[in-house]
Amino acid sequence: MGKKLFIQTHGCQMNEYDSDRIADLLNSEQGLELTTNAEEADVLLLNTCSIREKAQEKVFHQLGRWKALKEKNPNLKIGVGGCVASQEGAAISERAPYVDVIFGPQTLHRVPELLNKSDTLIGTSGGKGQVAAIDVTFPEIEKFDHLPPARVEGVTAFVSVMEGCSKYCTFCVVPYTRGEEVSRPFEDVLEEVVHLANKGVREINFLGQNVNAYRGLDEDGNEVDLADLITVAAQVDGIDRIRFTTSHPVEFTDSLIDAFRDVPELVAHLHLPVQSGSDNILKAMKRGHTAAEYLDKINRIKAARPGISLSSDFIVGFPGETEQDFEDTMNLIAEVDFDHSFSFVYSARPGTPASALADETPEDVKKQRLQILQTRIQQQARRIAESMVGSIQTVLVTHRNDRDVKDLNGRTENNRSTYFACDNDDLIGKFVQVRITNAYANSLRGELVNEELAY
Ligand code: SAH
Ligand code: F3S
Repeated sequence: MGKKLFIQTHGCQMNEYDSDRIADLLNSEQGLELTTNAEEADVLLLNTCSIREKAQEKVFHQLGRWKALKEKNPNLKIGVGGCVASQEGAAISERAPYVDVIFGPQTLHRVPELLNKSDTLIGTSGGKGQVAAIDVTFPEIEKFDHLPPARVEGVTAFVSVMEGCSKYCTFCVVPYTRGEEVSRPFEDVLEEVVHLANKGVREINFLGQNVNAYRGLDEDGNEVDLADLITVAAQVDGIDRIRFTTSHPVEFTDSLIDAFRDVPELVAHLHLPVQSGSDNILKAMKRGHTAAEYLDKINRIKAARPGISLSSDFIVGFPGETEQDFEDTMNLIAEVDFDHSFSFVYSARPGTPASALADETPEDVKKQRLQILQTRIQQQARRIAESMVGSIQTVLVTHRNDRDVKDLNGRTENNRSTYFACDNDDLIGKFVQVRITNAYANSLRGELVNEELAY
C-alpha cells in the first residue's frame, strides 16, 4: 500500500493554499497520498499560524497529540511548517524533540528533501533526543518555480500571485514570518489561470497577503499591476468570476477602482481590511491612511460598482483604544454598511512594535467591544440578506448540498451560500439564475429560475 500524508492547516487562506501545494509536491515526488485520518498516515504535517496568541498555543497541543501516534509507530514522520515554524525555528524541536522536519512558508518546496534528510539525522544527537531537519530561510529563488502545476478539484481555485508583506503594521507578525513582498511574473500567473480554466475552473481568487501590492513583470520587463492581471484573466475562456484577497487600502489604486466599473467578471464583493475607524489608532497601527481616506476609496468603489458588498477585518482593544476611538469604529461600520467581518481582540505579538505599548484597557472591556461590533455587523448582514429576497441572483453551483441531497448548493456574487431544490447534477460547475426566497443567518434559499445557464 502506498504511503499516506495527513496535513492539518491553521490560519489564513495563504496557509490553505500552501498546504495544497505541499500535498501536490509530495504526491508527485514521493507518491504520498492524502488521507483525512491522521492515525493511518506515514507523514503528519502541521501548517501553523502565529497571527494571534491562541493560534500559537494550538500548535503544541496538536503536536502533543501526535507524539502519542509516534510512540505507537516509530517510523512516523512529523513536520511543522508555516508562521510559527518561521518564528520559532529550532526552538520547536527543543520543546517537541519528536518533530522530524521544520520548514517555513518560503521553503515548503524543500519539504521532500527535508524529509529525506531527516532519515539521515536519526540518532545523530548523541543521545540527546532526535534532531530535526530545519529550513526556515527566505531563499532568493521563489518557491513557485519549484512547485508542480496545481491539481484541480472543483470549479473555484486560488491563484497565489504574491508572497509576503512589506507594510509592517505595528501589531502584525506577517512581514517577519513570511518575509517582504515578492510578486510572481505575469506570464507565470496567466499560464496557471489558463491551466485552471482548461481543467474546468470557472472562478479564480487571486491570493496574496497584500494582493493589491502585486507588481509583476511581463515578458518585456514592463510592470503589471493587479488591475491588469484581472483584466487579462477575465478574457480567458471559461473564467467568468474573479475575486481577490486580501487587499490593503493604501494600495487601492485608481486602476483597481476602474476594474470594478469595467470588468464584469470581477465580483460585486470586496474584502478591504480597515482594522479601526479612529485616526489615532490607525496612526498607532501604522496603517498609512486616515478613516476619511478609507471612506473616500470606499465611496469611489461604490460609485464604480453600485450595490457592491463590503467586508473588513477589525482589531478591537489595540493599546490605548479609548471609548471614543471605539465609537469612531462603530460609526465607520454604519457608514460603510459592512456585510461581514473578521474581527478579533488585539493580541500582543512578541517582536512587534505594538507589543511594547502600554495597554490599560481591561480584557473584559475589549471583549465587550468585540461583542458590540460583531452584533452590529451581523444585524447589517441580516438586513442585506433580507433585502435580497425576491431578487434574481447568479449562482455558481459547486456541489450537492451535504445536509439535504435534494438541494444543489452554490454561491452568489456577494459570496453567500445559496441552495435550491434541483435534481440535475449537470448544473454543478455552471452559473445559473436563482430567485431568492428566504434569508437565513449564514445562507440563502432560492428557486431555480430556469435551467438555462447564466453564461
Ligand atoms: N494583509 C491583511 C491582513 C493580514 S492578517 C491587511 O491588509 O490587513 C489578517 C488579520 O488578522 C488582520 O487584518 C488583522 O485584523 C488580524 N490581526 C493581525 N495581527 C493581529 C494581532 N496582533 N491581534 C489581533 N488581530 C490581528
Ligand atoms: Fe499584517 Fe499589515 Fe501586512 S496587517 S499582513 S503587516 S498589511
